[in-house]
Amino acid sequence: MQETTLSNYVQTLYGSEDDVLRAMRAEAEENGLPAIQVPFELGRLLQVLVMQSRARRILEIGTLFGYSTVLLARALQPEGRITTLELAPKHAELANSSFRRAGVEERVEIVVGPAVESLNLLAGQTFDFVFIDADKASYPAYLEHALRLTHAGATIVADNVWRDGAVISPAAGNADNEGLSEFNRNVASNPRLLTAVIPTRDGRDGTSVSVVLR
Ligand code: SAH
Ligand code: DHB
Ligand code: MG
Repeated sequence: MQETTLSNYVQTLYGSEDDVLRAMRAEAEENGLPAIQVPFELGRLLQVLVMQSRARRILEIGTLFGYSTVLLARALQPEGRITTLELAPKHAELANSSFRRAGVEERVEIVVGPAVESLNLLAGQTFDFVFIDADKASYPAYLEHALRLTHAGATIVADNVWRDGAVISPAAGNADNEGLSEFNRNVASNPRLLTAVIPTRDGRDGTSVSVVLR
């Protein structure tokens, strides 16, 4: 699925997916799921962030077939756990198959349903690391939940924050681009967050990485 030259270069040099991840992608493709999982090298960044922060509790919003979930789960401390939220039962079913294939099923809990509803049920729990990667119009709401469910020192990562430049002046009525544009403004202006943004997909999109300061 890696379509870009620099992506190929990075994966050839620093390492790429193993047979488990490759089989997960094949199964997802056979079942007609879109190939919109994180590029492997972005998954590797997620792993580095989880390992260096020694995260034990991860929250992921948007599972698809579990590609990023498996990479995150592999980076967890031995006793670590990940909760991942997915709307589509078909996606969740494939994700559960992925988790068994990868041998991480004990570390992963998938909650099926609209993420905002699932997030309301997580009140009282605390996470060290949040990965936001579901429906784009809801990113501002997901940020509020992420801030509520984390502590000082926690990491909040969001995928697809540039959308091929569409966030600069989003067309009125495009809820996805407007959602990301608002999300970026909220992240940037929140005094509780310090944020860096890195280009992904050869600069066509970006991923933001924020540390919760207080
Ligand atoms: N993080 C995954 C990719 C997620 S793709 C990876 O990198 O491997 C986005 C997913 O969000 C899709 O599976 C989609 O079904 C799900 N989604 C869309 N709207 C949602 C909602 N309201 N609540 C929860 N999940 C949602
Ligand atoms: C697309 C890519 C993503 O990373 C995502 O989370 C959702 C959609 C896309 O290319 O359409
Ligand atoms: Mg994404």
